[in-house]
Amino acid sequence: MAMIISQCSLSVLRQSAEKLRAGDLVAFPTETVYGIGADAENKDAVARMYQVKNRPTGHPVIIHIAELNDVDYWAKDVPEYAINLMRDFWPGPMTLLLRRRDAAGDFLTGAQEIVGLRIPANSLALGLLNEFKAFGGKGIAAPSANRYGAVSPTTAEAVSQELSEYLSPNDQILDGGPCLVGVESTIIDCSSESPKILRPGAISAEMIEESTGIVLEEVGETKIRVSGSDKQHYAPKAKVIVDGQSQSGEGLIAMSEVTTPEGVIRLAEPKSIEEYARVLYSALRMSDTQNLQTVRIIPPTGQGLAVAIRDRINRAAAN
Ligand code: TXA
Ligand code: MG
Repeated sequence: MAMIISQCSLSVLRQSAEKLRAGDLVAFPTETVYGIGADAENKDAVARMYQVKNRPTGHPVIIHIAELNDVDYWAKDVPEYAINLMRDFWPGPMTLLLRRRDAAGDFLTGAQEIVGLRIPANSLALGLLNEFKAFGGKGIAAPSANRYGAVSPTTAEAVSQELSEYLSPNDQILDGGPCLVGVESTIIDCSSESPKILRPGAISAEMIEESTGIVLEEVGETKIRVSGSDKQHYAPKAKVIVDGQSQSGEGLIAMSEVTTPEGVIRLAEPKSIEEYARVLYSALRMSDTQNLQTVRIIPPTGQGLAVAIRDRINRAAAN
């Protein structure tokens, strides 16, 4: 059990920051999805966060920081193009993988020589990070606040459904309403001469090329482990089928121009790509609360954010 806190005033955030420093866990909203946070300098707290998520040890975790000045504590040899990306897209839905300093222990990086950093664009998250910094904190380690392999939560209620039975009474869930982006951050490997996208997100390939002036290569297999890259991920209990004709009794997620056939349970009908990203995970969750056997998803077409949406849909469908 953990308390959901819906009025997150500055004094509440201060208390939450203090709890983090004391080793408790605090789930908080970001613009992408909710994260389950632990003090990145506290190995025991991070270990408990892994237990709560049922996440295999050795999977690296993103460290959330308050401002650009905090990068230097965790990372070194930051390439010029990465600085351009930070200036253009932080705070925002982008995680950079950089060469680590010793501060980024093996328990954060999965013993890899790179560390993942992000400044989230959410006032509550930034408020928490600033208060945490005032207590001497250097960064909040936070993966998405779901059990391993499950759909990421985009509301505080979804966090509670996923994790509350594993959290302790001292832990907290901060409610900041539904997440504005709805899919996880773009992960960009910045540990070599040119950037590589390891997980697509709202910061698109086009935006990265524009910011860095570097044309991205197509990436295939990489040595860097990204847990969201496990083939099956973001999966509801229901079977997910991509494309084709909806059958009676199935759930359906598709753009609003796709009509709902008789007997089909419409789970989402977004009118734009942005709305599609925002509602996808709650629609997948709804398929489970409604005990549906099958969800059919018609993915959006196009580039930009649509690439990230298709990536998540394909993973939800993989088995
Ligand atoms: O939008 C997001 O990124 C959300 C919010 C809460 O910030 N976080 C998130 O965390 O999606 P998580 O742990 O569910 O996914 C982060 C991914 C993982 O697949 C992890 O393997 C990868 O980032 N990652 C983090 N640090 C890394 C590192 N040092 N090396 C390689 N991959 C890393
Ligand atoms: Mg995740």
